[in-house]
Amino acid sequence: MVAETVVTLEKITALCKRRGFIFQTADIYNGLNGVYDSGPLGTLMKENIRQAWKQSLRALPYDILFVDGAILGNEAMWRASGHIENFHDPLVECKACNARFRTDDVDLNKACTRCGKKDWSESREFHMMFKTQLGASVEQASAAYLRPETAQSIFVNFKNIISSSRVKIPFGVAQIGKAFRNEITPKQFLFRMREFEQMEMEFFCKHEDAQNLFEFWRTERLNFFSHIGITPEKLRLRAHEQTELSHYSSATSDVEYEFPFGWKELEGIAHRGNYDLSQHSKFSGKELAVFDDATKSSYVPDVVECSVGVDRLFLTLLFDAYSEEQLEKETRTVLRLHPRIAPVKAALLPLVDSLGEPFRQLARELRMQGIEVQFDSSGSIGKRYRRQDEIGTPFCFTYDYQSAEDQSVTVRHRDSMQQERIAFDQIQNYIKQALLA
Ligand code: GAP
Repeated sequence: MVAETVVTLEKITALCKRRGFIFQTADIYNGLNGVYDSGPLGTLMKENIRQAWKQSLRALPYDILFVDGAILGNEAMWRASGHIENFHDPLVECKACNARFRTDDVDLNKACTRCGKKDWSESREFHMMFKTQLGASVEQASAAYLRPETAQSIFVNFKNIISSSRVKIPFGVAQIGKAFRNEITPKQFLFRMREFEQMEMEFFCKHEDAQNLFEFWRTERLNFFSHIGITPEKLRLRAHEQTELSHYSSATSDVEYEFPFGWKELEGIAHRGNYDLSQHSKFSGKELAVFDDATKSSYVPDVVECSVGVDRLFLTLLFDAYSEEQLEKETRTVLRLHPRIAPVKAALLPLVDSLGEPFRQLARELRMQGIEVQFDSSGSIGKRYRRQDEIGTPFCFTYDYQSAEDQSVTVRHRDSMQQERIAFDQIQNYIKQALLA
């Protein structure tokens, strides 16, 4: 019998630590608030997420170029982008215990959740960029900032990209990399972090095409998430109210997911107009326009941006895949991840260690092809299945005494727990077919 699963943040956090997906950074020194490390399985799964994202862009009928910008940026760049002036969140402080909160996270008519007193400060703006100093100088000219979004290195390289790559409007420039925000209250595990990773794509186009392309990307991005296995009913698009728009945006829609703590942003899709290129052109004094052969005139392209956090998507995938099933004698925890996202594609389980050699060799072959498998020859087969269920491995192959005689193996499916017998030499194909689906 399959009972309804109540998935909580606590269960996901515990699973992540227990199985080596995510660790609190510097755990043995009590961690650092809002900063996490990826463990062995988390590292594999994040790489799968990045690959799926890149693949989704490559499948489209547009040129998308990939870049990898620096994390540190100078003051001039962040002033031009508007971040130095505008990148802040409203903050209130409890005057009794000095705890600080995002104003939109607290009800100012109620007492402080930390100390129980009701004595709030005025709300003020708190700047969220991390500032640092290059070299030994303390002068303002050596100030640098950790990027709060990856997008700006795409805009400031626009001229370099078009002059070196022979691309024509419309085209996209995509980037995966770390971003940093001094969030007032990091929370919900990987949902709101201070150090996180973004996957951003800036799509440059003519102004008259921007609205249609904005619609196009809204649909594409929503489809992407169901394509990698997220339950479509738990996804929706929500257009921002005028008052919610970021300083650069003329229209934004969020792809939202229904988390246990409510519908929340998973990805932002923004019509940035030509705000960024115009600002950088104005502040740098460099021409950032393109020439239109049809009209024989120059123009600054508009941009439609798609921006999603690797970590937030990772958390979403775990929430969506997690389930607990009440079996006759035990509860089975299973991550129903899409095979392309699952960190381990298959477990190779010889019934006893002395039957292990054919699977040891197969494991090496599969890993050489970039297919991550686990070889595990100890413990009861039931316990080995449960362990693989919990980390989302789609298939477990078992090599038993019959295998040695007729070159067949058992394949056991994670979701249905059904088993069938296939030929040993079909294993590779079996896994590859699932990865193509
Ligand atoms: N360049 C546009 C931009 O950065 P954003 O809505 O601030 O827009 C885009 O961020 C995405 O980055 C979000 O949808 C979310 O997935 C992720 N993200 C933003 N802040 C985050 C944080 N503090 N922790 C984890 N992910 C975050």
